[in-house]
Amino acid sequence: SRPLVIAVDGPAAAGKGTLAKALAAKLGLPYLDTGLLYRAVARRMVNADLDPAGDASAQAQALQPEDLARTDLRVPEIDRGASLVAAQPAVRAALLDRQRVFATQTGAVVDGRDIGTVVFPDADVKFFITASPRTRALRRHHQVHGEAPLVEADLEAAVAEIVARDSRDSSRDTAPLVQAADAVLIETDDLSAEQVLEKACEEVLRRQ
Ligand code: C5P
Repeated sequence: SRPLVIAVDGPAAAGKGTLAKALAAKLGLPYLDTGLLYRAVARRMVNADLDPAGDASAQAQALQPEDLARTDLRVPEIDRGASLVAAQPAVRAALLDRQRVFATQTGAVVDGRDIGTVVFPDADVKFFITASPRTRALRRHHQVHGEAPLVEADLEAAVAEIVARDSRDSSRDTAPLVQAADAVLIETDDLSAEQVLEKACEEVLRRQ
């Protein structure tokens, strides 16, 4: 039988990566973070002094494995840049095969925005992971700044950033962020990472 492909989609900082990594480890599957591809394209644009809102197709085609290993991909400038290059159909087209090749040989847990809808519409199990913008902004803050306290004005700015990025990802014409009809919805506001993993594992077992 063909290897298992599990799609994990949802908005920024909802807990997709945490779930996908843990699920991959548990199932002995490779993990693919597709957001890194768009981040690496945005990084190439910025480093070449190009505006990420401009045509990024050449940078997407030129992407190398070492671009994905850079340590400066998770900074606010690149959060924003990635969602700008990701809105370009030619960029998405250039990255599609890479994502499919990665998972087709071995199976994989793949996280992103369009995995269950576009990249792997036949995925064995699809999850849509979400949480309120406030929860997601708080989580992102703690990922970046650890236990440092967050003042209300900063939280509001972080919420606004996340809402702007979600709306850009959800309103684009090509592969918008949308829950696949057959995806299992998990709202993570009141769940620990362990509880989310537990729910997802139950669902995977049920499908097998
Ligand atoms: O998941 P992450 O926050 O790293 O993704 C960065 C950006 O890349 C997202 O805001 C989105 O615009 C884009 N992306 C996408 N499709 C994917 C994964 C990420 O459009 N499958």
